[in-house]
Amino acid sequence: MKKKLNKIAKDTNFFLKKYLKSQKKTELLKAMKYGLLPGGKKIRSKILVDVGKIFNINYNVLIQIGAAVECIHAYTLIHDDLPCMDNDDLRRGKPSTHKKFGESTAVLAGNSLLTLAFEILANKNLKISDNKKILLINYISNCSGHEGVAGGQYSDLKFENKTISLRKIKDMQFKKTGRLFSFCCVAPLITANKNYLINKFNKIGENIGLLFQISDDLIDYSGNSKIAGKKTRKDEAKGKATLISLLGYKNTIKYSNKLKQNIFNELAKYQNRSKNLRETIEFILSRTN
Ligand code: IPE
Ligand code: IPE
Ligand code: MG
Ligand code: MG
Ligand code: MG
Repeated sequence: MKKKLNKIAKDTNFFLKKYLKSQKKTELLKAMKYGLLPGGKKIRSKILVDVGKIFNINYNVLIQIGAAVECIHAYTLIHDDLPCMDNDDLRRGKPSTHKKFGESTAVLAGNSLLTLAFEILANKNLKISDNKKILLINYISNCSGHEGVAGGQYSDLKFENKTISLRKIKDMQFKKTGRLFSFCCVAPLITANKNYLINKFNKIGENIGLLFQISDDLIDYSGNSKIAGKKTRKDEAKGKATLISLLGYKNTIKYSNKLKQNIFNELAKYQNRSKNLRETIEFILSRTN
């Protein structure tokens, strides 16, 4: 699993470097690359490749779509670390982008990574029909904006130091983390013309994302900062509303195992073809960074 993940990370970074090389040199590029390329696991691209395998999608197409997702993900991390949000100084084992380049540069590098994702999906070198590109851009926009990541991040901050219900915490985590995973599960279906499966895989993606956020919260609670590449034990100090703050550590582990089982049940139909995806889901729960 780790080997496959590393190969996908390498291929994604190779594509992104080449893509950025083909563009005009600007002063923002350095900060954009700093936040985008080194250190990220590229787990979202891995999910895309895993779901793509179920539906026989071309690997290079998946890497290009995954590169767009990783641009959006990197933008959300750069902004998430800003003083006006989580105020974190360490990311991927290095100073956060705003620590290295200043806040205004970090905001603009983040914005530029967001729009870069749309450029990549609209690019003529992505060998799928224009109609499918429009559907992909539409879907990823919806997953990233106020109904998705941005809306979830808004709730995450508003919920600090308040008692929040399980339903509301889950809804916030579906949005801030789940929806981008939904896109990764749905994009191969759009590419394969299997639109009737979109709702099912949207749900699977949301649940994988929720599982991913729960494991991120568990790493914050009991993980090692050196291994995680970011400071740990910060959620409690900031009064973040998480499943751990509501249910406690042990019950959160139980909850995550049940959630994993539910996802596996949804995938049972795909048997052998979903083997890689199931491996990735196991990895999500057992990971330490
Ligand atoms: C961290 O995401 C932010 C969350 C959504 C929990 P990742 O753990 O995927 O971050 P990188 O890309 O590997 O640094
Ligand atoms: C971030 O969640 C989710 C995003 C959409 C960026 P966290 O705030 O818990 O992510 P980390 O722990 O800083 O990586
Ligand atoms: Mg945050
Ligand atoms: Mg954070
Ligand atoms: Mg976290």
